[in-house]
Amino acid sequence: MPVTILDHPLAVHLLAELRGRDTQPGAFRKLTYQLTTLLVLEATKAIPTKTRMVQTPLEECEQRVLGQGLAVVPILRAGLAMLEPIAQMFPDVAVGYIGLERDHATAVANSYYCKLPDLQDRFTLCVDPMLATGGSASQALNLIKAKSPAGLVMISVVSAPEGLKRLFSDHPDVHVVTAGVDRGLDARKYIVPGLGDYGDRLYGTS
Ligand code: PRP
Ligand code: URA
Repeated sequence: MPVTILDHPLAVHLLAELRGRDTQPGAFRKLTYQLTTLLVLEATKAIPTKTRMVQTPLEECEQRVLGQGLAVVPILRAGLAMLEPIAQMFPDVAVGYIGLERDHATAVANSYYCKLPDLQDRFTLCVDPMLATGGSASQALNLIKAKSPAGLVMISVVSAPEGLKRLFSDHPDVHVVTAGVDRGLDARKYIVPGLGDYGDRLYGTS
């Protein structure tokens, strides 16, 4: 499973801001938007292109354009904050939703919602900012793979080595793009140093 860690000065700066304990929900959502934009540029590098003739005001020339449709599947709830920057960049993106929530005691994710578009000809991005144990991402990728996407990339903001290991075992064919790989998980299966509960920080809940 290829893992790409986004090593770019802008990305690391945004991630540092995001981690800060005092970053409030408004700024947290904006930083998520900005960082997702950078992550998506990396995650979509493998989309095939095709050629098309374009008539400029001066002459006709051959140009490369996207050769496949694009789909994005946010894992609710935190993944939802990563949808808008992708829809801004690719307005015709098809969108699916997967609802998963970790049990507070076991950290095992239960599925409560799944609505996916046709993915057969679409390069598909599954987005969830936190890859902790990897249980949520692994379940979501199973659901997405059942729809035979043309390509599949998992995008996370922060990953734990445990989550990457789990995906390596369950989905060796899926490319993971992340902005940071942290030290590990604490006793409650939170990423450390991490940034806390992403959904709570986005939406001001706790
Ligand atoms: C968080 C996060 C991921 C999951 C990661 O969601 O957004 O979906 O935990 O943990 P895992 O890799 O151990 O599965 P959570 O279950 O807290 O749901 P919520 O955002 O809706 O509160
Ligand atoms: N989910 C989060 O929101 N944060 C973590 O650190 C782990 C799972």
